[in-house]
Formats: sequence, C-alpha cells, structure tokens
Amino acid sequence: MDVKTVGVVGAGLMGSGIIETVARGGYDVVAREIDESAVAGGKKRIERSNARALERGKITEEQANVENARITWTTNLTDLKDCDLVIEAIVENLDMKKDIFSELSRITRPEVILASNTSSVSITALAAATERPDRVAGMHFFNPVPVMKLVELVQGLQTSQQTLDDLRAFAGTLDKTVVTAKDTPGFIVNYLLVPYLLEAVKMVEDNVASKEDIDTAIELGLSHRMGPLTLLDFVGLDTTLFIADVMFEELRQPKYAAPPLLRKMVTAGYLGRKSGRGFYEYNT
Ligand code: CAA
Ligand code: NAD
Repeated sequence: MDVKTVGVVGAGLMGSGIIETVARGGYDVVAREIDESAVAGGKKRIERSNARALERGKITEEQANVENARITWTTNLTDLKDCDLVIEAIVENLDMKKDIFSELSRITRPEVILASNTSSVSITALAAATERPDRVAGMHFFNPVPVMKLVELVQGLQTSQQTLDDLRAFAGTLDKTVVTAKDTPGFIVNYLLVPYLLEAVKMVEDNVASKEDIDTAIELGLSHRMGPLTLLDFVGLDTTLFIADVMFEELRQPKYAAPPLLRKMVTAGYLGRKSGRGFYEYNT
C-alpha cells in the first residue's frame, strides 16, 4: 500500500490525536469534521498537544509548523476522495458509523482501506455497509494518541490478511506497536478495561470509599498512571457509556451493564475533562 494522504473523519479527542500523529509521521492529512465550530475544536486540541510536545522537547517549533501545514481541514466528506487510506474516529454510534462507511465506499478508490478507530462496534457490521468488506478493519488507537504506543488491529469476518499487513506496516511508520484481535466487542483492551471502569463507578455508587481514595489505591497499589475515575474523566463518560452499551447489547452480560450513576452523569452533561466536569472538575 502506497500511502501519501490519509483521511481522518472526526477530530474530537481521538481524531485530533490521530491527525496530529499521522501528520507527525510525515503524511498529508485531510481532516473532516461536521461544522466549522467542530473544526475549530479539533485545531485547538492539536495546538495544545503540540505545545505540550514542544515543552517536553518531543518536537521542534519548525516540525510543528511543518506538521500543521500537512493538515487540510474540511466539512465536506467528498474532499477525502483522493486519500490513500481513511481512518474514521466519529462518535461511538453504529448507525452513524455505517453511514460514513457507506459514503466513503462510494467516494474513495476501491482498493483504499477504510479503518475505524471504534472501541467496541463490530467491524464486520461496518464492512457490510461498504462494497469492499475485505479492505475494512479496526485500527484502534489509545488516548492520548501521540503518547500511547499501542494500536489494536481488528479483523472483521471478511477483512483480508493483506489489509492487516498493510495497516501493520502503516502503524509501524507511526512508531506504534501492533496487536491483533478478532472482531469481538471490546477487542483486547476494552474487554478488560470496561468492566473495571464500570465497577469503579459502582464503588462510588455504593459508597465503598471516596473517589480520591479509589484512584489513589489503584495508582499506588497497582502502579497505574491514572486511577479509574480519573481515567473515566480522561476517556469521556459519554464515550465510556456508548462503549458499555454496545458491549452489553452485543454480549448481554451483567459485567457490561452501565451503572445508573454513569448514565445520570452523562445526562447531566458531566462528560469528564472535555466538558469541564466529570468525577472531578477541570479548567477547560
Ligand atoms: N506529544 C508527544 N509526546 C507527548 C505529548 C504530546 N502531545 N504529551 C506528552 N508527551 C510525552 C512526554 O514527553 C512524556 O514522554 P517521556 O516519558 O519520553 O518523557 C510522556 O508523554 C508522558 O508525559 P508527561 O510526563 O508530561 O505527562 P503525564 O505524566 O502527565 O502523563 C499521560 C500523561 C500520558 C496521559 C498519563 O497520565 C497516562 O498514561 N495516563 C493513562 C492513559 C491511558 O490509560 N490511556 C488509555 C485510555 S483507554 C483507551 O484509549 C481505549 C478506549 O477505547 C477507551
Ligand atoms: P469525541 O466525542 O471526543 O469526538 C467525536 C467527534 O466526531 C466530534 O468532534 C464530532 O463532531 C465528530 N463527528 C460526529 N459525526 C461526524 C461525522 N459524520 N463526520 C465527521 N465528524 C463527526 O469522541 P472520541 O473520544 O474522540 O471518540 C471517537 C471514537 O474513538 C469512538 O469510536 C470511540 O469509541 C473511539 N475511542 C475513544 C477513546 C477515548 O479514550 N475517548 C479511545 C480509543 C477509541
């Protein structure tokens, strides 16, 4: 696969990190968001992340400028028509994702791989919305994308070995380590992570301990970089709820049933860092 230009659909928390990482990897990027205000949000996230990378000596100012110049922003999906690879990172909603995959399948060249950054949605279902199910796969990055080294590649029922090989080679050029998983809700990481995060919310509901003590216990007792409630705020409570609901719908196991507190917090707009309030409060 000869990749020069990568399309990224969605520039939220994950999409903006993917755009930044792919541009840093030397590729041109065409980034699509739904409207100008969402484009501005994506640009702001990349600006902040670049500033952090600069501060920590990961890139130079010149590199940051070169990276930014590689990114073309659009609100029009047809502007992705000449891309050599497309990565979708819109909200975790099967119907919305299927619409995007079906449109991308009409717009792009037939051999172009359409990859999804989904955390839990079925890759086989997304592939079925296209005319090229063998060229559809999961490419699951981790948050924050420029920092986290892992990419999970997910093989849908019809995904070809060539598609996985092409994506593995591409991920390598971004300095990521690849693991592969079958098309199972949650793949590898979220299969384990989601029940753990939901249990932490239940612990708050049941008043087992304060949220601070739950986080401190896991940070110091298990050497995790973030305790579960801080991590929930970081991932986004809405995204975690979407993921849990998809996994519960698919597997019908109580361990994936979202606790009422999580649903209530999302209804109240407490989405975590991105909204300024989740389990903790943040200056946005
Ligand atoms: N670009 C490049 N590098 C950056 C950067 C950026 N924007 N920001 C930070 N870094 C680098 C730093 O230079 C540093 O690198 P070195 O170790 O080589 O010095 C490293 O990243 C850590 O940065 P800091 O020490 O400045 O930041 P920190 O200590 O506050 O750590 C964190 C921040 C990386 C987010 C850390 O708290 C962490 O790892 N948290 C856990 C994150 C996690 O678990 N993510 C997975 C979420 S689940 C998911 O994504 C799947 C899903 O489907 C829901
Ligand atoms: P987010 O809410 O931060 O961003 C979603 C973005 O998609 C928004 O900016 C929204 O405007 C945009 N969008 C919606 N419909 C669109 C469309 N039709 N075209 C273009 N853009 C559109 O969500 P996120 O956390 O970035 O999650 C995105 C995807 O990545 C989800 O599938 C999620 O499961 C997955 N994921 C999330 C995390 C995480 O830690 N948050 C980690 C790995 C994977």
